[in-house]
Amino acid sequence: MLEVERNDNLAVGWQLPDGTKQMPIGNTEVEESAQSPFLIRRALNANFRLGGAENAKALAEFAGRKDAPVAQRVEAITMLADWADPPLRDKIMNLVRPLGRRDPAPAGAALKPLVSILLNNSGGNEIPTVTAQAAGKLHIADAIPTLQSVFDDSKRSGEVRAAVLNALYELKAEKIHDNVRQSMNGKDATLKKAASALMAKLNPADAVAALKKVLADGKASIGEKQNAFSVLAGMKTADSDALIETWMDVLLGGKVAPEIELDLIEAAQKSESKLVKELLAKYNASLPRAEHKSVQLSDYKAALLGGDAEAGRKIFFESASAQCTRCHKVDGKGGDVGPELRGVATREKRDYLLESIVDPSAKIAKGFESVAIRTSDGKMVSGILKSEDETKIAVMPGEGKLVEILKSEIKTRKNQEESTMPPLTNVLTKFEIRHLVEYLSTLK
Ligand code: HEC
Repeated sequence: MLEVERNDNLAVGWQLPDGTKQMPIGNTEVEESAQSPFLIRRALNANFRLGGAENAKALAEFAGRKDAPVAQRVEAITMLADWADPPLRDKIMNLVRPLGRRDPAPAGAALKPLVSILLNNSGGNEIPTVTAQAAGKLHIADAIPTLQSVFDDSKRSGEVRAAVLNALYELKAEKIHDNVRQSMNGKDATLKKAASALMAKLNPADAVAALKKVLADGKASIGEKQNAFSVLAGMKTADSDALIETWMDVLLGGKVAPEIELDLIEAAQKSESKLVKELLAKYNASLPRAEHKSVQLSDYKAALLGGDAEAGRKIFFESASAQCTRCHKVDGKGGDVGPELRGVATREKRDYLLESIVDPSAKIAKGFESVAIRTSDGKMVSGILKSEDETKIAVMPGEGKLVEILKSEIKTRKNQEESTMPPLTNVLTKFEIRHLVEYLSTLK
């Protein structure tokens, strides 16, 4: 029998391949063959962690290299942006390795001469976007004229202009009030979204008045309304609380569109108003409760509608905490533990999709029933019963390696009521769950 090791650690990290060289950006030589993306990332990260002025310069020089891959140039710029306030986790190993706060000056000095070139970098929005973010975070005041000209260029994408607008705010640029107002009245949704968040900081009373209008506007899109609640969630004024109160009343009257219910509830949860808290308690008490259930589906019903399928697709394929593709395939890509999910939306309704994520054991997909086996030498194996004949049985545990057990070695065998899929409510936010439901519902 094969030995099974349970690995419940969902954190993603990279194993250092044995014998790799320390990498080469800055003052060491690089062999061409050593320029794998992994080695480049390690080198960038080493410079980021070392933290000297020459390291910041090396990162900026790399960011300016037209021959380097965009993804890594973006990473170098992001490292400069994070210079003063490094993330708790090491960017490569994903282990907690705090660096503490650092002076942003070396990073600002290194990036400053490149800001204009990088903001106008052709080919995609990523480099200009992260450059604007970095200029704001690193307080590069000299960048204001270039940022302003990018903002004024209506041919630039909303994504870039939104990042630029935020940077202009961080840098306390003179025309920021005008720029924000102009963006609020414009057409671009991304820019409008960034502008309304800034308006909430610059002029809360005007912001609430504008959000109130959006929420009452029959022609405003779902996205605009969701954003209005998300901005309100970040505000703590009497005006903003009053607007949330009004909408909680509407919710209790059953008149809030289901696509914006979650956004409203999350805004209400952040409010400190006593009345809002009471209304929220009333709403929670109105939800149906199923007895003997640890997960209440009704707590998640607001995640049923209103998600963004593209955001859900990203979570599905990229989220290190959800790890859906460890077990599921869509169109052939991913693991074999759970069912292929292409077609799941044809077989099943939205409620089922939601329940599959928040309470996997509620209904087990056909052919994916689990067993728990104890062998005569005391080993435990649990997973999906894949096949069985006279002499042996094949079980697929959650980590995805099929285990064959001879029937003569089985001491006890039990059918499990639990799904091999873990409940993901602890690692996903309700917003992420809503995006996933939307994505799954496109898998026809
Ligand atoms: C450890 C493996 C594992 C992970 C990780 C996992 N699943 Fe599952 N999933 C399963 C298994 C096994 C089943 C079948 C048993 C059941 O229905 O619970 C399943 C069932 C499902 C179903 C029902 C499919 C059907 O045909 O009825 C959906 C939908 C689903 N998973 C979505 C997801 C999503 C979305 C994620 C990531 C957020 C995810 N799963 C992560 C193992 C996994």
